[in-house]
Amino acid sequence: MASADGDRGSCMTCATATSQRSFPVFFPIMIEMQPDLTNEAVGIERLLRGSSGRKSRLHTMRDETPPLRAVSELPWLVAKRVFGEAPDGPWINAPALRFLKGIIRPQWRVFEFGSGRSTIWYAKHVASVVALESAARWHAQVEQDLARYDNAAVELLSAREFPSRMRNELDSTFDLVVVDGPDADECGCVLPPELDRTGCICASVTKVRPGGVLVLDNSDLPRYRQADSTLAGWRCVRISGFTTSPLTPMETSFYWRPR
Ligand SMILES: C[S@@+](CC[C@H](N)C(=O)[O-])C[C@H]1O[C@@H](n2cnc3c(N)ncnc32)[C@H](O)[C@@H]1O
Repeated sequence: MASADGDRGSCMTCATATSQRSFPVFFPIMIEMQPDLTNEAVGIERLLRGSSGRKSRLHTMRDETPPLRAVSELPWLVAKRVFGEAPDGPWINAPALRFLKGIIRPQWRVFEFGSGRSTIWYAKHVASVVALESAARWHAQVEQDLARYDNAAVELLSAREFPSRMRNELDSTFDLVVVDGPDADECGCVLPPELDRTGCICASVTKVRPGGVLVLDNSDLPRYRQADSTLAGWRCVRISGFTTSPLTPMETSFYWRPR
């Protein structure tokens, strides 16, 4: 998932790398809590408010709260984060991952903007997966992890080239397109909409087969909401819930191309 980092307005690639790998996992929680311990009143307000743009820590950026079941699994996710258990599969919220597991089919061809553990998971569950990656070190890691799968490839290229790379594909090629790339380039410059996830969606519209699915992670972020007009006429299911990082609710949207 990323996009915690949409909240922060920083380079998502670097930010996710930090939050996922470098720190002992309980550090971010302690850092979040630290001011709260020194000034109780301000602390509780901050703790509940979450990051800017959110009504509260329990709201998505669309001002919605996830269903009760998603909230009730929060302690389990906190425990996973504290004990450093890596997400098994795509880095999307837990209810969205359950939903994805329910719809995915072994014969599917998948294209993914933004690689990760997800790419390895797709390699195990579908006929083929091609992922794009803009961070050289992360690309090397994912490529190494994919070495034993002959149905998967991860391509290293600038995030600015993600949409044009997709345009090279034939129409109706993919059963599933996953839009989960960075919102900044390798130099940390925020991408303009035509090159970020919005641009990746536009480039994918004709590449998803009729009846196929496009998944947009962090669809509650204002900068990605244009997806609804780009994909007008596609059936949409939005699912919000928590991930291990960040501990705020996020939304993932599934769009089906009309047949
Ligand atoms: C939103 S993440 C993509 C996550 C991926 N689709 C998944 O579900 O695992 C966007 C970018 O963050 C970086 N990234 C993702 N997971 C990472 C990790 N565990 N460590 C370092 N970088 C990571 C990669 O550059 C990736 O393209």
